[in-house]
Amino acid sequence: MSFADLRQDFPILKRLVRGKPLAYLDNAATSQKPRQVIEALVDFYENHNANVHRGVHTLSEESTSMVEAVRAKVADFIKAPKPETVIFTRNATESINLVAHAWGRKFLKPGDEIVLTEMEHHSNIVPWQLLAEEKGVKLRFVPVEPDGTLDLEKVKAAMTPKTRLFSFTAVSNALGTVNPVQEMISIGKAAGATVLVDACQWAPHRPIDVGSWGADFIAFSAHKMLGPTGIGVLWGREELLEAMDPFLGGGDMISRVTLEKSQWNALPFKFEAGTPNFADAAAFGPALDYLNAVGLDVLRKHEEALAAKARAMLEAEPAVTLLGPEDPARRSGVVSFNIAGLHPHDVGTVFDLEGVAIRVGHHCCQPLMRKLKCGGTARASFYLYNDESDLEAMARALKRTLEFFKVAPQAGAR
Ligand code: ALA
Repeated sequence: MSFADLRQDFPILKRLVRGKPLAYLDNAATSQKPRQVIEALVDFYENHNANVHRGVHTLSEESTSMVEAVRAKVADFIKAPKPETVIFTRNATESINLVAHAWGRKFLKPGDEIVLTEMEHHSNIVPWQLLAEEKGVKLRFVPVEPDGTLDLEKVKAAMTPKTRLFSFTAVSNALGTVNPVQEMISIGKAAGATVLVDACQWAPHRPIDVGSWGADFIAFSAHKMLGPTGIGVLWGREELLEAMDPFLGGGDMISRVTLEKSQWNALPFKFEAGTPNFADAAAFGPALDYLNAVGLDVLRKHEEALAAKARAMLEAEPAVTLLGPEDPARRSGVVSFNIAGLHPHDVGTVFDLEGVAIRVGHHCCQPLMRKLKCGGTARASFYLYNDESDLEAMARALKRTLEFFKVAPQAGAR
């Protein structure tokens, strides 16, 4: 399958936006869906729709086995030996909140410390702030370097004998920094901490091997990797998941309920209270099949090559400042930039006039933006279906923006 053929699988790429062909460069926010995923969703509702784990009738059994087959597929995708260690949530935010509630509330005590980094998405800061307030736990932050990277010596220095949890993003959604995940996990584990990896921006592009990583929890979201919205994943180390209390209470998460007390269901159901999002879970399977068929290594090379060309295009404009690491080995397919004197929202608005979809603003990373002394950025993020036509559209959008706002060539865009 060539990348040109592959575009045909994504119906939305045929549409026009403001009279121009859509150039979708907001993949770090959410990916588009191939026909295979859209058709799986329609097929589920047309042919199999029934609640899971609750019926002996044919549809319920079909629906249950479809969802459980996808759970096994997710486990394969991240090389987790046991599918029951894969918990379906609504999104990665819920996965992280699940750990904060079900692990943090039970196992943390006043004076304990949680280490985070300054480049975290709000979803990996706010749940810990809420927990810190409730439990008297202290948060420590690994500082971000001016080039948007983390210094491993500073990661080590943030660990203390009181560190109980180290939670960090594998790839920065705002800057595209690829962190040295393996080394960071090792530092956290050597300090005796439980380690959570926010893999939202990693899982769509790079392989995960839970065994060789050695982390305790890994969170990511289906919608950023060709799958439907409303399905997140929390993978957890079995002993930890077993030891944790439930997150939400309700149907399906119990084995026995009396009026006085309840007993919990086995994994993974202990953490999946209520009717789960089974239709979207079923349609996540074809998304993983699609990624496996293309190959993460192949797609990553493709999108990073496009991102490198986008950076070169932007770098050629003196009024543009690029954010994030210089070293290509530390960069993902995200290109974050600012144009001198322009608010990122104005940049995004003119880009949209050319049919180019980028994200602008603080990217749910206000502390990081503050650290880098910018209110926000414009962010183009590439995925497997992008091609040269998107770069051409971006070049037109950039030219139009510079002309529209009469930006004088100058340095120091921030
Ligand atoms: N976290 C997503 C982003 O970076 C929504 O755009």
